[in-house]
Amino acid sequence: MVQATPFLLVLFLALGAHGLSAKKCSLTGRWVNDLGSNMTIMSVNANGVFAGSYHTAVTATSNEIKVSPLQGAQQKGPNQKGQPTFGFTVNWSFSDSITVFTGQCFVDEDGKEVLKTMWLLRSRVEDIKNDWKATRVGNNVFTRLQSQE
Ligand code: BTN
Repeated sequence: MVQATPFLLVLFLALGAHGLSAKKCSLTGRWVNDLGSNMTIMSVNANGVFAGSYHTAVTATSNEIKVSPLQGAQQKGPNQKGQPTFGFTVNWSFSDSITVFTGQCFVDEDGKEVLKTMWLLRSRVEDIKNDWKATRVGNNVFTRLQSQE
């Protein structure tokens, strides 16, 4: 017992230090992307389901931009290690289009949370002959908006 005590102490400290340093990435909160679009994600529930709002900085239409609702899900599998994958849909309230995003919530080397995403923007076309040009693809990087308190 006397010999085991130092070993257990070192093990405990090592596990504790690791636990403190392994910062997790949380989707909840306010985010801004590389285009200047703003997104707010409300709380993620126990099943990983979430909702929020999206204020895009750009549009492929000539319509006036309006804040639009989003719905999504974060992966809640049994082996989550803190940098979850997720997907969400933005149902644009000012156009006939819809966008799906998929990505992963990372903690970068500076300890900052970053969402790396790819998206598909589907526009409505009147004629099936135009289906080939109806979907745009791209990527966005989101960082957390700091509150101005
Ligand atoms: C539309 O133009 O019909 C709706 C707005 C689309 C905005 C796109 S979605 C992908 C990209 N990322 C953004 O933040 N905005 C654009």
